[in-house]
Amino acid sequence: MKKIAVLTSGGDAPGMNAAIRAIVRTGIDAGMDVYGVRQGYAGLIAGDFVYLSRRDVGGIMHTGGTMLGSARCDEFRTLEGRQKAIDALCKQGIEALVVIGGNGSQAGAYDLWQMGYPVVGVASTIDNDLEGSDVTIGVDTAINVALEAIDRLKVTAASHRRAFLVEVMGRKCGYVALVSGIAGGAEVVVISEREVAPEEVARELRAAYERGKNHALVVVAEGAQNNAQKLIQHFEADEGAIGFGLRATILGHVQRGANPTSADRLLATRLGHGAVRALARGERGVLIGLRGDHLASTPLGEIVGRQKPLDLSLFELARIMAQ
Ligand code: F6P
Repeated sequence: MKKIAVLTSGGDAPGMNAAIRAIVRTGIDAGMDVYGVRQGYAGLIAGDFVYLSRRDVGGIMHTGGTMLGSARCDEFRTLEGRQKAIDALCKQGIEALVVIGGNGSQAGAYDLWQMGYPVVGVASTIDNDLEGSDVTIGVDTAINVALEAIDRLKVTAASHRRAFLVEVMGRKCGYVALVSGIAGGAEVVVISEREVAPEEVARELRAAYERGKNHALVVVAEGAQNNAQKLIQHFEADEGAIGFGLRATILGHVQRGANPTSADRLLATRLGHGAVRALARGERGVLIGLRGDHLASTPLGEIVGRQKPLDLSLFELARIMAQ
């Protein structure tokens, strides 16, 4: 294999740049030319390729975002769009594509593979909801951003004896909220996998004050039915009866923009390197992820359209630690 390409797709995740760097340098080391595709699948359809040398990917490992750009692309969802993408790859003489991204992006990679084009995926999403990898690129950084916010909010919460709520990203998955809640010492964690009614949240917060705590913190997953908006509504409507107000912070995209942690840089470097090695070995149509401390290849057909189940024993851990 002499020519490969790499693209980043979907929501950017801190560590994507480290993965691009690893793919380029491993590819060149194996005697390949490596091309970057700008703006994800949209750039692929447009044939927007850029040759990448070792130096082109220097000085990017510590930065969040993606040097190649990313996009969510409706045209790629059509058969015609995907055919255009394959034609562009073939016209450039590119023999295989590495797709760095989460669920939607890997579904796109699988579609290309089903049309006969060689692909390998790299597990990358701050949501950590992708089957085939215990941990995905970006989630460690996103959790650390949430923790920084939580730690700061606890300081002001303790000064005012106020309750605070932090809503974190994660799409439909509660992993980021649950781990941030445990590591941040939250009194209540609300996730879609274990909904907590607003009345129950209020009860838990009151109980925390009664136990002598001088702060009370709720971490909510954006995908929960009782998300920040719902909880705020409840607390605003019933503040008198509840006995205290709730200040809310919705972190949103702030979580995606940080410089990657060492864990994400190392993970991204290992997965990017592993993806090129897999292609060189002749593997096709697989996702490269981490299982335990080993790289694992999982057929894309086994992971697309599924959400990695959350380890709910962590929810019990959060509950006990909140007492
Ligand atoms: O999948 C990553 C993610 O950041 C989710 O946590 C979030 O729900 C979504 O992307 C936001 O998407 P967008 O950047 O398109 O608003």
